[in-house]
Amino acid sequence: MYLYVVDDYKELSKKAASLVAGQILAKPDSILGFATGSTPEGMYAELVKMYEAGEINFKNVESFNLDEYCGLDKNHNQSYHYFMNKHLFSKINMLPNNIRIPNGLTDNMFDECLTYEENIDMCLQIDLQILGLGHNGHIGFNEPSDHFSYQTHCVELSQSTREANARFFEGGIDEVPTHAITMGIGTILRTKRILLLVSGSSKAKILKKVLKGTVTPQVPASILRFHDDVIVIADKEAAAELYEN
Ligand code: F6R
Repeated sequence: MYLYVVDDYKELSKKAASLVAGQILAKPDSILGFATGSTPEGMYAELVKMYEAGEINFKNVESFNLDEYCGLDKNHNQSYHYFMNKHLFSKINMLPNNIRIPNGLTDNMFDECLTYEENIDMCLQIDLQILGLGHNGHIGFNEPSDHFSYQTHCVELSQSTREANARFFEGGIDEVPTHAITMGIGTILRTKRILLLVSGSSKAKILKKVLKGTVTPQVPASILRFHDDVIVIADKEAAAELYEN
């Protein structure tokens, strides 16, 4: 595991974008795993700039998103479909058929999750999976639990995650969906390389637990220490507790 500690969010975004761009340059038909949330927004903006400057080309890139809320229409402004279109897909040249995001409106959840996982398997392996870190240590929507989940599945969101995400919903927590579809911890661990982005002082405590605490499903991201190619980029605020004592 490599840990880069950078000065601030801007540097984090640039560093993350340069690693993603490097992946695309090295393998133009890369399969990327995308995350949503506040943390990767700056990285997506940097990638769009590089694309506009002609430095990278997404024509042959394929992607799988980590997760999607259940019950939100694709056009709902808090769905992850909407997020990805707004921040990335509408601004680059990825082919629509190469973009996969779970369908949170499915009426056959079992089939949706199984097919999503099979589609990933058919691509053999995601080359680079981008992750943010939840305040409770979740990755994707794999919440603290007594076991590590294996593959794409439907989860009930914890109260703390719904509270954290209520800031994005006009009507507050009552509007935050109670369930989501997420890649499993096993799905994430099967990716070739993982890029974990962590920003801000509110993530300092959990980042310390992830990197230095016990590996436990109560802190889902702690399992990343068993993957052999993980890059963590944290800004100084997020890394503040790592070097105490
Ligand atoms: C988003 C996702 C979540 C977020 C996490 C951090 O696709 O899977 O795990 O990465 O909740 O969110 P932010 O970046 O908003 O703090």
